[in-house]
Amino acid sequence: MTSPPSVYETQGPHASPYTAWLKYCNEREVLKTAFEQRFGEWAGTRNEQNLSIVDMGSGAGVSARRITDILDIHGRKYSFTAVDPYQEQLDQFRAWAGEDYFQYVRAGFEDFVPERKYDLALAIHSLYYAQNMEAALTKIHSFAERAMIVHHGRQGLCTVQSQFPHHVKSKNKWDSTYADVTAVLDSLGIPYRTTFHDADLDVSSCKDPTNQEGVDLIKFLVDNATLSEKEVGEVRAFVKTLPDHFIHDIGLIITTPLEL
Ligand SMILES: C[S@@+](CC[C@H](N)C(=O)[O-])C[C@H]1O[C@@H](n2cnc3c(N)ncnc32)[C@H](O)[C@@H]1O
Repeated sequence: MTSPPSVYETQGPHASPYTAWLKYCNEREVLKTAFEQRFGEWAGTRNEQNLSIVDMGSGAGVSARRITDILDIHGRKYSFTAVDPYQEQLDQFRAWAGEDYFQYVRAGFEDFVPERKYDLALAIHSLYYAQNMEAALTKIHSFAERAMIVHHGRQGLCTVQSQFPHHVKSKNKWDSTYADVTAVLDSLGIPYRTTFHDADLDVSSCKDPTNQEGVDLIKFLVDNATLSEKEVGEVRAFVKTLPDHFIHDIGLIITTPLEL
């Protein structure tokens, strides 16, 4: 049995719902600034060190690229292991990053088998998909000295998903916020610091039924690539009650190595 397409895969002749999200939400730019501001916390202070990074749920590397750009600006060397369950995402990652400093592993939180210890693990908007968040965070901390985690809050995507829980494919996974992540870190005794950031989400395209990007964005908003036209229409009717632009809030959590 083949599984239904995810919002991260291309949909027939046109782009994926995720492409529409990346176009209409500026969070990756907001995150880049936040990554720059907190550089020392995730990259550490040993500037001569070749930073080994594992990116859990790397996707096509949209966030990874921001991170490696910052490392390049600082003249920091790195090796990078991208881990994602979707081959299409890894292929897109490889297309821009190549093989020199990057390795690619097709796996998820549950079945990834680390072959070494890493200085830094990334989980940028991927923990929603972990079958068990506590198990995923425990595993990450068994093979990485520190972790940089990005997870959303109650605004933005959650505003739409909370209206359509029956459409949301991975409801339990999406129905979590950065507060759930920090609660697990607290229970595991892992120290961390969180900063909060607001991105802008532009839903104006969703209000026009003839706009294909708007249809794709609606599918991403409810994490369901197989919505029928009628269901897209139901979500559109709700989105029409919202302003064209609203806040998508994000928590940036960076853990502290236990020996510090
Ligand atoms: C919102 S995207 C984020 C991609 C990337 N981290 C970024 O910020 O650009 C979430 C990613 O999690 C991946 N994912 C889905 N299930 C997963 C699992 N069980 N373990 C790890 N990653 C998973 C998806 O394939 C997708 O690439």
